[in-house]
Amino acid sequence: MSISILIILAYFSWVVAGQAPIPAKYDGFLYKNQAATTDSIIIEAFFDPVCPDSRDAWPPLKQAIEYYGSHVSLIVHPFPLPYHDNAFVTSRALHIVNKLKPISTYDLMELFFKNQEELYNKPTFNKSRSSVVKHVAKFAVKATGSSYSSDIESGFTDRKTDLLTRVSFKYGCSRGVYGTPFFFVNGFALADGGSSIDYKKWRNILDPIIKESSFR
Ligand SMILES: *[C@@H]1O[C@H](CO)[C@@H](O)[C@H](O)[C@H]1NC(C)=O
Repeated sequence: MSISILIILAYFSWVVAGQAPIPAKYDGFLYKNQAATTDSIIIEAFFDPVCPDSRDAWPPLKQAIEYYGSHVSLIVHPFPLPYHDNAFVTSRALHIVNKLKPISTYDLMELFFKNQEELYNKPTFNKSRSSVVKHVAKFAVKATGSSYSSDIESGFTDRKTDLLTRVSFKYGCSRGVYGTPFFFVNGFALADGGSSIDYKKWRNILDPIIKESSFR
């Protein structure tokens, strides 16, 4: 085989590998099951459950979403940052709960935000992986109710939930997400992606868009 053929083969195998797996369902968690349609303004937020900036970004975003009601839909995508040791396992917990009891997904996200310090790198440095998973699962059970306890536990060894979490990560990468929080409005990245936005700023961003649309 000549070198040029080898190079061509290598190129095509790269192209094939370059296609990220396409999930059966759009990635992310819909807030309050408020359908995201082209008739609503769609906000997408990439959050890492153990990122302090994501935690701080949530209350003002939530407040804005509540203010605009049915005009705005929100999809949160988990985006586990590699330098947060427990980002993937907490993101996976969100997927597990979203499969078992979708309505509890945001409750779990808020529980992670509220108790985030327990899952930072330093306090879990000397903990075994299994004890961290147990700790994370406890939050998931708290969000869903104890009847889901065994399903949640087995969720952490179910390859499907691992793959779903990988899809979230790959999806973020494919859209150029490099930090959290990271926001898109109607598919367009906000200029200061990777930083927090307070309520006033959300109003400044969304008020003109709402006005321009025919929703009002
Ligand atoms: C981990 O455990 C070792 C040995 O007990 C201790 O010296 C170290 O300070 C601990 N590290 C953290 C980050 O807690």
